[in-house]
Amino acid sequence: MQYHSRIIGCGSYLPEKIMTNDELAAMVDTTDEWIVERTGIRQRHIAADDQTTSDIAYEASLRALEYAGIEASSIDLIVVATATPDNTFPSTATKLQARLGITTGAAFDIQAVCSGFIYALSVADNFIKAGQAKNVLVVGAETFSRILDWEDRSTCVLFGDGAGAVVLSGYEGAASPTMESGVLSTHLHSDGRHWDLLYVDGGPSSTKTVGHLRMAGREVFRHAVVNLAAVVDEALEANQLIREDIDWLVPHQANRRILDSTARKLGLAKDRVVVTVDRHANTSAASIPLALDEAVRDGRIKPGQLVLMEAMGGGFTWGSALVRWSGRN
Ligand code: ACO
Repeated sequence: MQYHSRIIGCGSYLPEKIMTNDELAAMVDTTDEWIVERTGIRQRHIAADDQTTSDIAYEASLRALEYAGIEASSIDLIVVATATPDNTFPSTATKLQARLGITTGAAFDIQAVCSGFIYALSVADNFIKAGQAKNVLVVGAETFSRILDWEDRSTCVLFGDGAGAVVLSGYEGAASPTMESGVLSTHLHSDGRHWDLLYVDGGPSSTKTVGHLRMAGREVFRHAVVNLAAVVDEALEANQLIREDIDWLVPHQANRRILDSTARKLGLAKDRVVVTVDRHANTSAASIPLALDEAVRDGRIKPGQLVLMEAMGGGFTWGSALVRWSGRN
């Protein structure tokens, strides 16, 4: 017998304020047509001035806990993936822990930008497999609106704010890779040589400022398509599965053209890919749990189905996770 993890609940939260492409076009030299054609994005949510990353993480977490049907006090580990923490320190995870009224267990942040949720899920899965945690709250939460240069049309049109969370719970089962439900495998990669293709030009130890997001979009696109295809194949091979076995692709929502390209490589019909980029834009570490929550709650993702998640982000970092959906606890 071995410990395995499965997702027993999910939840998400989007700030109330919506910013359309037309509103952006009044701020920078762009058009709705350009943004839709190049990215598929039509609108994004923007956090209120007094809303922090831990605030929106808290809302998503409450919904995930409610779905899972467990008390916050049952959580013994909180992992928050974010590149936009409330403060340089302490971690957003400890602030979330306090908001949830949890005073035991551990809490920490993970920084892998847009791949953050896959990294956090992998870390949580490994804590459970090692017998070091039983119920883990895994959150992706971002307020990218705070680090955008609102005068740079090549980046400010691409991102939005939001949060998503899952509750990962341990159970004892056979060592078989074809187990009934749960996280089948996770695959993480990074290559720091490319850090300056997508980065924030500030930081406490360099400029002593928060800084703004900078990106060589075309280069990022090129790397994303190659790395995502590789990490999707890696997940299939590790589980001796073929492309046709995948029921749902829940990709990081960066750009409609990147999503379409990965789906094409997988031979997946478009209606098997969960897409939210049109309404949420790129919410970095929050985009996968936001999309997952939407497709679970509207009944698309059903217990027993195979769900493949993948992401690529600054660093570069990239990764995938294969999950057999388990439904409620
Ligand atoms: N509105 C109008 N014109 C614009 C805009 C805009 N918002 N932004 C750029 N342009 C112009 C450029 O100035 C350029 O004009 P020029 O030819 O006169 O110099 C022209 O459009 C083409 O610019 P490119 O950057 O070459 O456009 P491209 O087709 O590559 O699309 C985009 C840009 C959408 C950023 C694309 O490269 C992309 O999606 N890259 C992936 C980046 C990404 O998604 N990053 C997210 C984080 S990483 C991840 O999650 C995978």
